[in-house]
Parts: sequence; structure tokens; C-alpha cells
Amino acid sequence: MALVTTTEMFKKAYHGGYAVGAFNVNNMEIIQGIAEAARDQKAPLILQVSAGARKYAKPAYLRHLVEASMEDTGIDICLHLDHGADFDICKDCIDGGFSSVMIDGSSKSFEDNIAMTKRVVEYAHAHGVVVEGELGTLAGIEDDVNVSSEDSSYTKPEEVEEFVTRTGVDSLAIAIGTSHGAFKFKEGQKPQLRFDILEEVAKRLPEFPIVLHGSSSVMPEYVKIVNEFGGRMPGAIGIPEEMLREAAKMAVCKINIDSDLRLAMTAAIRKHMFEHPEHFDPRQYLADGRQAIYEVVSHKMKYVLGCSEKA
Ligand code: G3H
Ligand code: 13P
Ligand code: ZN
Repeated sequence: MALVTTTEMFKKAYHGGYAVGAFNVNNMEIIQGIAEAARDQKAPLILQVSAGARKYAKPAYLRHLVEASMEDTGIDICLHLDHGADFDICKDCIDGGFSSVMIDGSSKSFEDNIAMTKRVVEYAHAHGVVVEGELGTLAGIEDDVNVSSEDSSYTKPEEVEEFVTRTGVDSLAIAIGTSHGAFKFKEGQKPQLRFDILEEVAKRLPEFPIVLHGSSSVMPEYVKIVNEFGGRMPGAIGIPEEMLREAAKMAVCKINIDSDLRLAMTAAIRKHMFEHPEHFDPRQYLADGRQAIYEVVSHKMKYVLGCSEKA
């Protein structure tokens, strides 16, 4: 078992017609639930850490927890920085042992995005680390920054070749209608993804791995449990699983999932608290939260990403 980059993972995923799941991690139970699912599904795995996760759990804890999960399960893991906002956070993660970083210049001008991304690529590649860039802006909430759907914009296919050639990125996140968080579409609105943009991007970047952010399905069964046990998430709606499966068969090699994990863990803990008001040992309800993470990740790998048995 080892910390690995995405290079081999993406090559196999591209040609195999599936995607690798990139799951956000914030604490021990989340890491354990995901790593155990990947071990049992024999699936490749990317664990990703946001700036918010680093602030919450502290970088050293996250790094050591991920190392512990590799030692415990015996699997290979790619440790990835999610939405790196600038060169400094990318450098910090590269120096701290990450095998992959994302530099997110999607809110900048095309030229500024290229300049910042290129600088990260030069440093990362010199240290054996791979880099994900982004073109186009997703709607939704990341790290407390809320991008309204009016301010979001689809990726322009005519920009992707120049961006990839000039920056040297190893993968590219694009905006085709996915968005961050649990409220991706308005009630009554039909979920839609711009597969035509994905196709055009894939045509212009042959054999190049594409990334989809904001790809939780906001699984209705968990929204129901949350609402049943005292939560309030009316109108939470995500990307239909069959659309993600379709994208995974195309050039999409990495699919980012966070909200579905949050939702499943919260549903399980709410249910546990309600059914066992006498419990006050955190291990009792956190074990249910961890089990819910295990089940959601196993389901995604098997039925949505198609990456079971591909490790
Ligand atoms: O894209 C955002 C991820 O869901 C991470 O969320 O910044 O709240 O940790 P966070
Ligand atoms: P979701 O909010 O849809 O889970 O997206 C997560 C993500 O894109 C992390 O980078
Ligand atoms: Zn994201």
C-alpha cells in the first residue's frame, strides 16, 4: 500500500469507461468509512481535503489519519487538495506529502488562471505531484463562498486546449451544470447536464482526464431520514445518478462527492439519537455515521462510478 498519484488511475479509468470517486474527508470516522468501502469494493480511491477541512481537523491529523487508513486497509490512496485557492496552500500540501493538488483559478480571468496554475504545475511536477486545474465556474457553496447560479458559467470548449497546453495540468475540472452543496436545482426544475459541452471538450482533449465537481446526488432516501428525525432540508436535490454514470463512461475520470457523505452521516446520527435517547457515548452514534458513509461510498463505487474491482 502506498500514497499514489492519479496518473495510472486516470489512464485505466479513461479506457475502462468508469470514474474514480474523490471523497472529501474531515475526521476519522469519515476516512475509515470510505477506506473500508474502497478495500471491500477493490476500488481505486482519492481522498480529498479542502481548506475548510484543514482548518477544522488540522493538516497533521488528516495526514496521519489517511496514513493510518492505508496501513489498516492495505489499499493505495491518492491524497488530494480540493480547491486550492493559491500557490501557497498548494505548496504547503505538496511539501506536506500530498500526491495531488487542485489549483482553482476558475474565478480569475483566463490569463490569471493560466499564470497561477502554471506556477503550481511547475512546483508540483518537480516534486512528483499531479495537478488538477479548473475552467468554468460552478454554482453553489465552497468554503463559505456562495456562487449564485447567475454568476456561474459553463466551460468554453474553445479555451480548453490552450489552457491545458500552456499550464501543463494533468486533469481538468469543467462546469457542465453540476454545482456544490445540497440544493443544486430549484424545486420543479428538471436536473440537466450539458453533455454536449463534455463531448466537445473530450474531442478537443483526446485521452485527457476530465473532472466533475459538485456531483452529489443528494440521495433522497437520506434527505427523507434527515427530515423524519428533526432535520429541515426541504427541496434538497442533486444530480441524478444515471447522468453521473453516463459521464463516467465518457472522458470524466474523477467525480467529487462530499454532500452525499455529509447527508448520510447526519441522517444516521439523527436517527440514532432519536431511537436511543439514553445514549451519550459518542462511539455509539458515530459508529452509525461511519457505517452510513461505508454504505454510500460502496453504492457509489458499484452503481454510479463503476470503479468496483478496478483497483
Ligand atoms: O467543494 C467543496 C467541498 O464540498 C468542501 O466543502 O469547503 O465546506 O470543506 P468545505
Ligand atoms: P458536492 O457538494 O456535490 O458533494 O460536491 C463536492 C465537491 O465538488 C468537492 O470539491
Ligand atoms: Zn468542488
